[in-house]
Parts: sequence; structure tokens; C-alpha cells
Amino acid sequence: MRVLVLGGTSQASELARALVDRPGIEATLSLAGRTAAPAAYALPTRIGGFGGAEGLASYLRAQRIDAVIDATHPFAARISANAAEAARGANVPLAVLSRPAWRPGPGDDWREVANVEAAAAALGAAPRRVFLTVGRLQAGVFRLAGQHWYLMRSIDPPGDLPPSCEVVRARPPFLFDDEIALMREKRIDVLVSKNAGGEAAQAKLGAARALGLPVVMVARPPAPKGVGLEDVEAALRWIEAQR
Ligand SMILES: NC(=O)c1ccc[n+]([C@@H]2O[C@H](COP(=O)([O-])OP(=O)(O)OC[C@H]3O[C@@H](n4cnc5c(N)ncnc54)[C@H](OP(=O)(O)O)[C@@H]3O)[C@@H](O)[C@H]2O)c1
Repeated sequence: MRVLVLGGTSQASELARALVDRPGIEATLSLAGRTAAPAAYALPTRIGGFGGAEGLASYLRAQRIDAVIDATHPFAARISANAAEAARGANVPLAVLSRPAWRPGPGDDWREVANVEAAAAALGAAPRRVFLTVGRLQAGVFRLAGQHWYLMRSIDPPGDLPPSCEVVRARPPFLFDDEIALMREKRIDVLVSKNAGGEAAQAKLGAARALGLPVVMVARPPAPKGVGLEDVEAALRWIEAQR
């Protein structure tokens, strides 16, 4: 059975590890190529776009793929829409593996906004010290709110940045004690995050709670259509059921 895993998340990496040497399954991991030096995978990996939904449908046919798992990031809406269309067109079963969204708990002070532009506006007029964790591709949006100082964390060096910004290069997972230390050292007033869900990047939320800091949380785009799976175990069961 030939399986395509659309990746770019820690959950996709976990699934890729679980599929290595699984009897009767030949799986391929697909990455967009956004990270200059992605982690090494034991699974055969292809890198780069397919050329839209049509390109992906052609790939599914040419590679005789039997099942697709869309394990892309919840904010990667285009590839998920393409995957749904391509799987329908090529008549290949598709499931979406996605971690549940984070929810505020007691002691959290969240302001939920619809997109990163709204997050920039929600920081307000008065200058603040902002911990920005929305990914390097959207950091430039915060030029709209250039009165603030930013600590921008990303895996690769970001391009477009707000004028007053320090960059810290790091890759998840992040630990609670380190997040507390970083936010204290940089005298952070507010955290900006996308609602990615999952554990690898969750520690910053606990740290903000412990330090009594507000969080501007960017809500997810609408979930892609199709079978929804929350964890790798469920993905493995779904793959087995397609045989
Ligand atoms: N958006 C985020 O916040 C975020 C955060 C962490 C990780 N990621 C990961 O980074 C990648 C890019 O995110 P994005 O928001 O730029 O995606 P996007 O806007 O949904 O996709 C843009 C284009 O990138 C290509 N692409 C995306 N994921 C791919 C994959 N796994 N394999 C092959 N091609 C892929 C596709 O090109 P073609 O149309 O040419 O096929 C797609 O049309 C995704 O794989 C995602 O899982 C995204």
C-alpha cells in the first residue's frame, strides 16, 4: 500500500517515524521546502510544491498512491484545499491529521483574533514588548504596528521584519522553564501566537499564564473537509483500514 503524508509539522514527523518499516506500507513524506535544513527523516522524502491541486492529482496517479494523510499545519490552508480537491479528482481516500486547537484555561488572559493583521491591531497604540511567534513569513505584517518592540522567534532567518525587532533562532519543542526565562529576560509584556495546537510549542502559553501576561491568539482558518484524525495512533488505524 502506497501512502503519501503531507507534512511540515511535528505530528507529521511523528507519523513518518511510525510508518518506517511498517510491513506492507510504502510511505513518502512531502515537505513544502520552507525550512532550509529540515530534520532528517528515515522515510523517503520529496520536497517542493506539486503545482496546485492538478499537479497533486497527477502525482497521486503517477505514483499510484492509495491513501493520503494531510498532516500539514492548521494554518496551511492552501495545501489542505489542494489535497482535498486532488484526492477527490484522483479518487484516493484522504484524512486530515490535526492536533486539537488550544483552549484558554483558568488564569489565561487571551484575546482571540481572526488573522495576523488583527493581531497587530490588537496590540494597541501604546508601545509594548511583544513576543512574536507567528512564523517568519508573516512577521512583516507587524510593520503595521511598528511602535512596539518585538522578540521574533523562528527556525530560519526571517526576511521582512518590523523596525524594532530582535530575532531568536530556535526550533520546537520548547520547555516551560526556558520560556519563562526568555520572557523574563526580554521583559515581555504580551505574547502573540497562532492557535497551532499540540505540545511542542505549548510551553509559551503556560509561561504567559504563570507570568500573568496577556496572549493575542490568532484563530485557525476553517478546518479542511474530510475525515479528521487527532493523533498518530488514529492515523495508523485509518491507514490500516484503507487496505
Ligand atoms: N502556515 C503556518 O503557520 C505553518 C507553520 C508551521 C509549518 N507549516 C508548514 O509549512 C508548509 C508551508 O506552509 P504554508 O502556510 O506556506 O502552506 P500553504 O499556503 O497552504 O501552501 C502553499 C503552497 O506550498 C506548497 N506546499 C505546502 N505544503 C506542502 C507539502 N507538505 N508538500 C508539498 N508542497 C507543499 C503547495 O504548493 P503547490 O501548490 O505548488 O503544490 C501549496 O500550494 C506546510 O507544509 C505547513 O505544514 C506552516
